[in-house]
Amino acid sequence: MEKIPEIGFGTFRLKRESVKQPLRDAIGVGYRHIDTAGIYQNETEIGQLLKELYTEKTITRSDIWITSKLSPYDMETPRAALLKSLSSLQTDYLDLYLIHWPAVSRTPGNSPLHKKLRLEAWNVLNEAKQQGLLRNVGVSNFTPHHIQELRDETTYGIDGMHVQMEIHPWYWRDGFAIQNMFREHGIVMTGYALLAEGKLLGEPCPEALIEIASRTEVTSVQVVLAWALFKGWNVLVKSENPSHLVQNLGAGRVAAMLTPEEIAGIDTISQKVKELKECWDPRAVT
Ligand SMILES: NC(=O)c1ccc[n+]([C@@H]2O[C@H](COP(=O)([O-])OP(=O)(O)OC[C@H]3O[C@@H](n4cnc5c(N)ncnc54)[C@H](OP(=O)(O)O)[C@@H]3O)[C@@H](O)[C@H]2O)c1
Repeated sequence: MEKIPEIGFGTFRLKRESVKQPLRDAIGVGYRHIDTAGIYQNETEIGQLLKELYTEKTITRSDIWITSKLSPYDMETPRAALLKSLSSLQTDYLDLYLIHWPAVSRTPGNSPLHKKLRLEAWNVLNEAKQQGLLRNVGVSNFTPHHIQELRDETTYGIDGMHVQMEIHPWYWRDGFAIQNMFREHGIVMTGYALLAEGKLLGEPCPEALIEIASRTEVTSVQVVLAWALFKGWNVLVKSENPSHLVQNLGAGRVAAMLTPEEIAGIDTISQKVKELKECWDPRAVT
């Protein structure tokens, strides 16, 4: 597959066998991007399910985009970790492999080891790309500073790299800063945790979202996904509920229904001084 599908199926917290039915449902309703990672503990089961789907002729390998990620526990052995992911997923290549986190695990945030291993891993991933094991490479949860180092201090640079970041109406400025700073390098942005780990679904849902959802006759979740798509991001969502799977995939058509004023209204749900980051925070990693 040439281009990353704009709405992908996330598999975080769907460990082992529990990933199989939601993933089968997701592929059945049209998802073509599967996002997994070494630390999600489900690559083997995803590989098994995909093999079944190939055998049933539901899909072929080239119909789908598979993303996996180098675990922070494997930063010292990136090539071995990649080969393990390929074997577990029963594939000769990955569409995308990301450095999951800018640090090696169980090491203080200010250790010089993080930078050394990040740069080494980036070169190893790019070599694997040259060898055909990877179609695309990228990073996740990196700060602009971490990305600048890859650009300025590695053989391969960052042209065409993918970046996966937490992004939702309560926390988006760091992601948008990366998108703008490295625009000239043609980087591809994908957002995760669009529902802010469920906060979007709690009470009260921000008024701006309710109003737009009511005007466009869609759900608040679709509005948020469409907001990110409108900004030029791809998105990941996880659901075990078949009707949510269909609804989320429908966000693509909603993006065209939003006005610039409505987009600006969603941006103001968070204030610059009061953003709410839900997932792990790389800003303390040197
Ligand atoms: N790179 C990273 O460090 C990183 C970190 C976190 C996540 N990710 C990736 O991003 C993916 C998505 O993030 P996430 O799994 O944390 O959370 P998420 O997709 O933001 O939220 C998932 C939750 O939202 C619910 N949900 C989904 N669609 C809904 C809908 N239309 N209406 C109501 N509820 C809905 C799901 O429940 P139901 O099952 O009931 O629908 C689930 O509880 C992950 O699975 C993973 O692949 C990457």
